[in-house]
Amino acid sequence: MLWLATTFLAALAHAQQYPNNTSPGGNDTDNSPLNFATSPPFYPSPWVEGTGDWAQAYAQAKAFVSQLTLLEKVNLTTGTGWQSNKCVGNVGSIPRLGFPALCMQDSPLGIRFADYVSAFPAGGTIAASWDRGEFYRRGYQMGQEHRAKGVDVQLGPAIGPLGRNPKGGRNWEGYSPDPYLTGVAVADTVRGIQDAGVIACTKHFIMNEQEHFRQPGQFEDFGFVDALSANLDDKTLHELYLWPFADAVRAGTGAIMCAYQKVNNSQACQNSYLQNYILKGELGFQGFIMSDWDAQHSGVASSFAGLDMTMPGGTDFNSGFSFWGPNLTVSILNGTVPQWRLDDAATRIMTAYYYVGRDKVNVPTNFDSWTRDTYGNVHYYAGTGYGLINEHVDVRGDHFRSIRRMAAKSTVLLKNSGALPLSGTEKWTSVFGDDAAVGKYGPNGCPDRGCNNGTLAMGWGSGTADFPYLIAPLEAIKNEVASNGGVVQSVTDNYAYNQIQSMASQSSVAIVFVNADSGEGYITVDGNMGDRNNLTLWGSGDALIQNVSALCNNTIVVIHSVGPVLVNSFYDSENITAILWAGLPGQESGNAIADILYGRRNPGGKLPFTIGSSVSEYGPDLIYEPTNGHGSPQDNFEEGVFIDYRAFDKKNIEPIYEFGFGLSYTTFSYSDIKVVKVPAGAYTPTTGQTMAAPTLGNYSRNIEDYLFPANATRPATFIFPYLNSTDLGEASQDPDYGVEYTWPAGATDGSPQARIAAGGAPGGNPQLWDVLFSVETTITNTGSRAGDEVVQCYLSLGGPEDPKVVLRGFDRLSIQPGQSATFHADITRRDVSNWDTVSQNWVISEYPKTVHVGASSRNLPLEASLDTSDYQS
Ligand code: NOJ
Repeated sequence: MLWLATTFLAALAHAQQYPNNTSPGGNDTDNSPLNFATSPPFYPSPWVEGTGDWAQAYAQAKAFVSQLTLLEKVNLTTGTGWQSNKCVGNVGSIPRLGFPALCMQDSPLGIRFADYVSAFPAGGTIAASWDRGEFYRRGYQMGQEHRAKGVDVQLGPAIGPLGRNPKGGRNWEGYSPDPYLTGVAVADTVRGIQDAGVIACTKHFIMNEQEHFRQPGQFEDFGFVDALSANLDDKTLHELYLWPFADAVRAGTGAIMCAYQKVNNSQACQNSYLQNYILKGELGFQGFIMSDWDAQHSGVASSFAGLDMTMPGGTDFNSGFSFWGPNLTVSILNGTVPQWRLDDAATRIMTAYYYVGRDKVNVPTNFDSWTRDTYGNVHYYAGTGYGLINEHVDVRGDHFRSIRRMAAKSTVLLKNSGALPLSGTEKWTSVFGDDAAVGKYGPNGCPDRGCNNGTLAMGWGSGTADFPYLIAPLEAIKNEVASNGGVVQSVTDNYAYNQIQSMASQSSVAIVFVNADSGEGYITVDGNMGDRNNLTLWGSGDALIQNVSALCNNTIVVIHSVGPVLVNSFYDSENITAILWAGLPGQESGNAIADILYGRRNPGGKLPFTIGSSVSEYGPDLIYEPTNGHGSPQDNFEEGVFIDYRAFDKKNIEPIYEFGFGLSYTTFSYSDIKVVKVPAGAYTPTTGQTMAAPTLGNYSRNIEDYLFPANATRPATFIFPYLNSTDLGEASQDPDYGVEYTWPAGATDGSPQARIAAGGAPGGNPQLWDVLFSVETTITNTGSRAGDEVVQCYLSLGGPEDPKVVLRGFDRLSIQPGQSATFHADITRRDVSNWDTVSQNWVISEYPKTVHVGASSRNLPLEASLDTSDYQS
């Protein structure tokens, strides 16, 4: 028990001394002004008010929470412990009202730990489709599957990491290092998931940009190292990393998961500035904040700092103790945490529940995360509660069709000297690479895809789902060629040099599959602890390409990767006649690539990131080794908003393939830019005051009412809200119970609070979305095939600190040969604004602004100026 007391005490004392968990220490060799940055305190935690279209859900939630006892409210907020129940996260139920335990389940690309589910293309792959309809449909279909398995909260989409550095292990779970593209994708995904009746949990808030040192703990041989601190300034926060979160909140995301690491030296899940001021204040978030798994590091402090639900509930996996649970009950009973704060947490959870219509869904959880056995223990860790746990419900519908289409639409043609599309009647087709076939252990052979065997169709970690099947490229190509009466052979061992050489020299076309993988930090694959160690191809992919292309002058390279890879060694070789980036396509991988290779689909995807020629071009490296002894490595985001193409533009580096680039089997021309100024009012900062924090119902002051019921069954390590003693000190299990702490000023204040000028509605001040300009251009298909063109609109905001261009609009248009289509983009106030750190609001600067339209971030043939003089702040 002693270790536990220390844990509580350390966390509580620390939170008290440094209200935002900021503490001194560090690496004094780094002179960055961001080094040891601190995060200002902000209290009280804003209470939900039902703004925007949340009014009805809020009213229902209030009515529900008003009937709850204190124990029942605590039960809604506290996870029951790791592997305590069927889902990766579960809170307690309210049997008195027939309210089942809520189920939270990964992942952003499907349902993790379940059978008969679909494996969709990953976030960073669907982003390459630049297709709003597909973003929405993918979200909707994932939502349908979660709903039919009895999941209340899908733990996705992911938009943090955004992708500051391309080696970040989990970038592929999110969409793109561009905040605008990510913002559109996340908003449509959230709408899709929630329209299907499931709460979306947008994650990880915020700055979760690398895996190394994401949590306090042991890493490799380094011993204990505290969680890394991502240090950044207010402008970078608003203009880059927060941008897509604003879109997610505006789209109505019901939940947001706070991140593992620290931001400005304050642990993300108890960072009052980010959670109270930014997320619930400025962005007007009406849902609930859930901790990442084991990312809560204090009880009272995290509650004051805005956390609403702790996952999976314990102080540590399977500890059986909780910072909340009985301790939250105690902290209300002894008056440390005011009732309104607990009521607000419970109301936020229930508001999200009603907002997506979960009260109308009646599907009990019908699968179990921890075993595929039909019968087993529902309390897996405790080994109790034997019964039917897996009903093996097939929830896939006909989603395979859209998965195939989405994967094909997300494939990017990077080079084509005329080799593609193939006819299927090539005399001798050879397929090379271990990435062409399913690995020997099958597509799910390694838990959480924690290995790189065979064709790569998703990364590793919690952001995965089990494949129902995986169509390998080799299978699909074989079918294609064989059905045309051709010859097709393969070598799927990258190191079988003799066989590779002899087959390459006979081939009329050689298709080489290569890959690069990454994932979540709790699994190390081939020496990569989540984050990639470099940007090179895995399995000596460069050598494979070299060996094949040296002997075959019609070599086509297909890359399956989590993000950018180095293509320097082969991209400009004459013998390489085509290059395709196919990302992480999900279960229909082979069919989708065959659709592209054989011309059933004309490629229209565009890169959602830049492919450079060295990792250093992208900016600061990840931190792979402790830089601050046992203290938090200080990760200073000094590059500000200049990541990916903005960094290349700023440093004038010519990328190999720029952000937004992608070819087609046809060609397009751009003409006639037209800009129309749309009348809009002046921007008015939000003013006024909130209502006072409501308290909902009463609670008994009789401590006896909070004891474990005499007849309670208590599975080992299961976390309950009950107390084991009427002595609150004993019940808290903290030997220092009773020590007086000074809690942050204002933390318990439930009186009306000033509204935030840049806030006012979910997503921020609604006038930020006023349309100020409408832009139109004509796009003509000048080739002989029907095709899709992703038309992109960029702005130059004109200031000395602004990127050369920033993406501010796009559309994917399908155009018949010889026909034209009109591209239309609405430019909003937010699109032309900068974050002003002094007024704490968005302003339109006096610098001249230009709109550019074209086919990529570096191919922008059309431009026009935007007259923003009426709107300057
Ligand atoms: C930790 C991961 O960071 C998070 O994304 C995931 O949802 C939880 N584990 C639950 O598996």
